[in-house]
Amino acid sequence: MKRYIALFTMLLSGGLLTAQEAVAPASDAFYNDLFVRMILIGAAVVMLVAILVLYRLLMTVIKVEQIKIYKEQGLDAYLEAVAKPKESWIMRQYKAWTAAVPVEREADVLLLHDYDGIHELDNKLPPWWVAMFYITIAFAGVYLVYYHFTDMGPSSLQEYETEVAVAEEQVANYLAKQANLIDESNVTLLTDEAALEAGKAIFVGQCAACHGQLGEGGVGPNMTDNYWLHGNTINDVFKTIKYGVPEKGMISWQAQLRPVEMHQVASYILTLQGTNPPNPKAPQGDLIEPATEGSAGETPAEGSSL
Ligand code: HEC
Repeated sequence: MKRYIALFTMLLSGGLLTAQEAVAPASDAFYNDLFVRMILIGAAVVMLVAILVLYRLLMTVIKVEQIKIYKEQGLDAYLEAVAKPKESWIMRQYKAWTAAVPVEREADVLLLHDYDGIHELDNKLPPWWVAMFYITIAFAGVYLVYYHFTDMGPSSLQEYETEVAVAEEQVANYLAKQANLIDESNVTLLTDEAALEAGKAIFVGQCAACHGQLGEGGVGPNMTDNYWLHGNTINDVFKTIKYGVPEKGMISWQAQLRPVEMHQVASYILTLQGTNPPNPKAPQGDLIEPATEGSAGETPAEGSSL
């Protein structure tokens, strides 16, 4: 469709572009260019106005000729018909679209009702209004077919679902970004099942070799007792995981785990406290009671564990 409009405007504008291009229109990108489109439409408008002006001019010339001829031949009756100023097109349109019984002839359309002195006129509906009424009916028909009987237009439900899908994607993107912005200063304890499960999977896969399948300890310290070398708050644990204690055999994980994963495994580790697995490794570090929800916990004094 677009292509045809462009073609039409192009032809109308008298070959602004070569005929070659008109036969095989250039790429859509060309017509989608707003500037090109505006030029084409502008050219079409100018052409239309010019055509109109020329038409009026031609009609005037014809009229002048007619008057001249009728005068020469003494055809007064014709002369009168031609010379009489005609109502302008706009005026005729205006009258046609607003046709109503004029006030002077209202008596003709007066109904015989009388409501406390209020009378009713049986006037015609204004044609412009009637036309709009029929247009709305036609529109409703098209609408009905387009949206309800064919698959061309999406239903309200489909539109809703598309929008929800888009919004969900945005939320997911946002959350993913947020999750990866986590660091030791803003990390919070995760408690939802899914996150803890993910944390457990990471622990079993990456950490259990040194910290034991159940966190009972091995090369690395026991995670299930209340003794900590580097603190037991979520912030401390996250930090230990992220930067590690390389000189003591605990590597820095930030190159291997994404922030969200370190967040999950740190939260999981803190659920292991007090689980009393078999073969626990002897406590290391300082006794720190488990941080209760919301409390910051304690960090052992600098160097106390070394
Ligand atoms: C190669 C063995 C090894 C692996 C693998 C390992 N750790 Fe460690 N981890 C250690 C050692 C050793 C320590 C003790 C460091 C010290 O003495 O300061 C430690 C300490 C820790 C601490 C501090 C404990 C405390 O008492 O403060 C946390 C938390 C920790 N590891 C979490 C993890 C997590 C999570 C993983 C898996 C992503 C992991 N570790 C993988 C060896 C390991």
